[in-house]
Amino acid sequence: MANENQFKLFTKFIATRGVEEYRQTIPIWIRPEDIILEIGCEWGTTSTLIWQKCKNLIATDISLDCIKVARTKYPGIRFETLDAFNIQQAMKLGTKFTKIYIDMSGLSSYRALLDVISLMNMYASVFEPEAIIIKSGSLKQFAKSCVAWKTTFPS
Ligand SMILES: C[S@@+](CC[C@H](N)C(=O)[O-])C[C@H]1O[C@@H](n2cnc3c(N)ncnc32)[C@H](O)[C@@H]1O
Repeated sequence: MANENQFKLFTKFIATRGVEEYRQTIPIWIRPEDIILEIGCEWGTTSTLIWQKCKNLIATDISLDCIKVARTKYPGIRFETLDAFNIQQAMKLGTKFTKIYIDMSGLSSYRALLDVISLMNMYASVFEPEAIIIKSGSLKQFAKSCVAWKTTFPS
């Protein structure tokens, strides 16, 4: 049964539409002390922008081919293969992340909305980052329609 201790996620979810908005968050959300997990790094184009702003970055992708290209292009960055839905594999990275960046193919469609929400909740519960920044047009649209009700009591 629900009680007052449930649903108190500390993590902020930042929904962006398109890669331009996704990258615009980097100078705003990343601080020099941040330890970042990037999911869906492809060839490392966004990774290098993140890496310049944070203390530590592990950039990941499900595709080994992408990871091989990224490692060649940016040898200073740590790139690893990871299927985002395999949380055990993510935990084996062995680091406590302060921010998580997610840009995975297929997460922008409305059909993917439940996957997006469950993915974010899973990473928020396991790593307790301050923020998860995600590229998902459908989540951004959904978030715009949400209002968190606050009961106000007359004084
Ligand atoms: C649009 S690309 C990412 C582009 C990259 N973030 C950038 O800014 O250049 C999407 C990436 O998601 C990766 N991907 C798809 N499914 C994934 C999964 N389950 N786990 C991790 N990465 C996944 C793909 O391999 C692909 O490289």
